[in-house]
Parts: sequence; C-alpha cells; structure tokens
Amino acid sequence: EVIDKAVEPKQEDDSQKIRGVIDKAVERYSQTWKKQEDNCQKLRFHLTSKCNGLDRAVVTQNSTPVDSEISYNGLKKTLKVTPELFSTFIKEHPFSNKTLDTCAVVGNGGILINSSCGETIDSAQFVIRCNLAPLGNGYEKHVGIKTDLVTANPSIFVERYEALNGRRRPFVEDLRSYGNSLLLLPAFSYSSKTILSVRAIYTIEDFESPIRPVYLNPEYVESLLLFWRSQGLRETRLSTGLTMVSLALELCNNVHLYGFWPFSHHPHDRHNLTNHYYDDIKPKVFHAMPAEFDLLMRLHSQGVLRLHLGDCP
Ligand code: CDP
Repeated sequence: EVIDKAVEPKQEDDSQKIRGVIDKAVERYSQTWKKQEDNCQKLRFHLTSKCNGLDRAVVTQNSTPVDSEISYNGLKKTLKVTPELFSTFIKEHPFSNKTLDTCAVVGNGGILINSSCGETIDSAQFVIRCNLAPLGNGYEKHVGIKTDLVTANPSIFVERYEALNGRRRPFVEDLRSYGNSLLLLPAFSYSSKTILSVRAIYTIEDFESPIRPVYLNPEYVESLLLFWRSQGLRETRLSTGLTMVSLALELCNNVHLYGFWPFSHHPHDRHNLTNHYYDDIKPKVFHAMPAEFDLLMRLHSQGVLRLHLGDCP
C-alpha cells in the first residue's frame, strides 16, 4: 500500500523527485493490471523498426565479418575485427524470427528477498537474468533457477575472478548454475572490456563449459538509447535491466519483471532493502534508476509489461 514520508532515497539530492516517483508508483501499482494488446503491438513495432533486437542485439559472424570495424559505445574509437576475434562470434543470431510466449526479466533488486517468486519466475518460457547474479545458496525459492540468458558486465571478472589472470576454475564453477544459457557480454563499451570478454570466452572454451557466450552489439545499445530518449528518458547510458527489458519486449508476447525496485524501502511495509538481493553494493554508475523505473511503471500502467512488486503466492 502507501509509502509514508519517512522513505529515504539513495540519492539524497534527488530526494523530492524520487519520493514523487515512489508515491506515483505505489498508486499506479494499486490499480488492476490488464494487458493492452494495442499498446504492446505499437511499442513492439516501434522498437523493431528503430532497434531490431531480434536481428541485431548480438554480434554475429554474419553481421560482422573479418576486417570490419566495431564502434565502441558513444566513443569515436573503433576496433578492427581480426580473425581471432571473429572466431569468438556466434554464427547465427540467436533470436532471428523468434517469438516467445512469456518471458521473465529478473532485475537484481533487494525487493526479491523473501518474495517466494522463484517458482513463478521459473514458470516463464524464457528467463533473463542480469550480471551473473547468484542463484543457489537459498536464493532459489525467491529468484528461481531457470536461466535462458544471463548478462555479465566484464567488470565482474575483475571484481570476482582476478580478471581471469589467475586460477580460472572458480569462474567456470560459478557458471554451472546457468547451464547452457546464453551469456551476454557487453564487450564493446570500453576496450578493456573487450580484452576481459575474450579472456572469459577462451576460459569457457578451454574448460568446455556448456554456457554459450555472445557479445552485445554496441550498435543495438546505441539505438536503444536513442529510442528511449525519444520516449522522454533523459539518460546517457541505459542500465543492464532496461536493456534486457527492451530485448524482451521484442522477443516475448508477455513480459514480466521481477526485482526492479531501485529504492531503499519496500513499497508495501517500508522495511529497509539492500540494493541487490545478494549484497548491498551500490551502483557505481548511477543510471538515473528512478527515471528508468518511472518509465517501466508507465509501461506497466499501459499494459505493455507487468511489474511485480509484491510477494508471489
Ligand atoms: O549493471 P547494473 O548496475 O545496471 O545492474 P545490477 O545492479 O546488476 O542490477 C541489474 C538490473 O536490475 C539493473 O540494471 C536495474 O535495472 C535492476 N535493479 C533495480 O531495478 N533495482 C535495484 N535495487 C537493483 C537493480
């Protein structure tokens, strides 16, 4: 129900604005949700014509031949595709001509703690997770285990796996819980991330891990940023979560969101929340999360996707 005035936002300078977003969200969420087929189709049509994630979200050997150039996101810098780099690209686009029924996009918010949403999440046909969020250790009941696609920001390899310069087995063992899902690497935001991503792919190959690494296409990322800006979002960089929601909106007829709540208090009983369901590390890059959340809430109200902020039955 209602959030009172005691809510403390994470970014104090924006506190007024954030309180407004929260109040509005709680009010909108209290209204009965109904899917609106017209709005879904309209948004999908626009996303497909501007961004075309089903054919462009991932770098493939078809789209990016040897000697072509890859542009880093938002930078003038380019990278020439060598035969070695090319050999790490997937052959065909994994989503071409695909339409799925129900997809769950799992954000990493602390709101998932004790939500009992694991089963509901796992019942989706396609489950997308972010940044190699941990699944075992008692989290399963609340976040589920099924994974069809998981993202990995290469900075994780530095933070958790010594940049894959030392022993690499712990990394491969942690990948086990994601089975043979796609591992989506945003390798072309900075050159340091390309090197780390290639190292991760070589590790996966050398240890014969079943996970299927693919690169997020920087052109797709760029087009998404322009698209959401044209819809009123003022941002210089999209979060992993919004990028995955955008992909799901093209790929799936029904899009359900869990773990999206970038505020420090629970919307229902106002208890304190950690930033992630597995730790309380605050975001390094502040992605204007409340603005993104406001956008997601708007899409929820329009019946385009369904946000889940409460506990599951
Ligand atoms: O890489 P990034 O910082 O964007 O992501 P993360 O912290 O690993 O979380 C994955 C995604 O979950 C974020 O990009 C957000 O969209 C969402 N999230 C949220 O809505 N609320 C939170 N408290 C934490 C994450």
